[in-house]
Amino acid sequence: MDPPRRVEHQWTDKGYVPVYTTAVVEQPWADYTSVEHQTWATLFERQMALLPGRACEEFFAGLQRLGIDGRGIPKFADLNPVLQAATGWTLIAVEGLLPELAFFEHLANRRFPVTWWIRKPEQIDYISEPDLFHDLFGHVPLLSLPVFADYMQAYGEGGLKAARYGSEPLTELTRLYWYTVEFGLIDTPQGLRIYGSGIVSSKGESLYSLESAAPNRIGFDVKRVMRTRYRIDSYQKTYFVVDSFEQLFRATVDPDFGPIYYELKGARAWPAGEVLDGDRVLQRGSGEGWPTDGDV
Ligand code: PHE
Ligand code: CO
Repeated sequence: MDPPRRVEHQWTDKGYVPVYTTAVVEQPWADYTSVEHQTWATLFERQMALLPGRACEEFFAGLQRLGIDGRGIPKFADLNPVLQAATGWTLIAVEGLLPELAFFEHLANRRFPVTWWIRKPEQIDYISEPDLFHDLFGHVPLLSLPVFADYMQAYGEGGLKAARYGSEPLTELTRLYWYTVEFGLIDTPQGLRIYGSGIVSSKGESLYSLESAAPNRIGFDVKRVMRTRYRIDSYQKTYFVVDSFEQLFRATVDPDFGPIYYELKGARAWPAGEVLDGDRVLQRGSGEGWPTDGDV
């Protein structure tokens, strides 16, 4: 079999970005090289040395339940029966970041797209787009947790709905994904813990998000988050902290966003690093090392 190929970078109205086909492919597991398995192993071991006491318990429970370990790149076909039994989710292999609507459609149907290729050794510390390590190690463990699995499906349905409301609602909903699924922190009796996939899959941000004095850490509030711009090329200036996954679920899944989209129409979005009156501030960031522009 020819290995599936990613589509090349293309010039679009958002700049020079990678563009991928929406096709669901077969994970070319037999074609991974020993270097690629080693990249997985290196990243896995490095994060596992760092994450105990930093990532939430549910993350480790998910890894263990699914049998994800450092021996090499997992086979999606081995994980799927376990994931299906746990929460009814299925992993599908894709070429990379999908167009929004295709992504929402998968989530709404409890399918999680995982990029099949892994970064090159020289990209171990930083890669600007999601690869297999981010998608699998970062996202899949919590998909085995029922409340989080339900949140993800509801988010997919919410995305399809937001698209019918227009581009501003879509932007607002994307911010919610960013500040929860990708970069969320959770308060536990043992202290703050990471649950966001963009953090757990990054050595630097696993330390920075919890231990640096630079970023703000602010209690989660759904409308606040929907108005907050974010960073795609640096650590976050602000992390939002939920008290529990149940709180996250109730605050996002329960309300009908229709009236909220209407209320927020034309509202100014907050810069990523701004602290507002009414914020529940756990840490006011020093702002040290922050880039001065580039919030998305
Ligand atoms: N409740 C939201 C709506 O009515 C959908 C949603 C679910 C949004 C989960 C985010 C997360 O549109
Ligand atoms: Co991600």
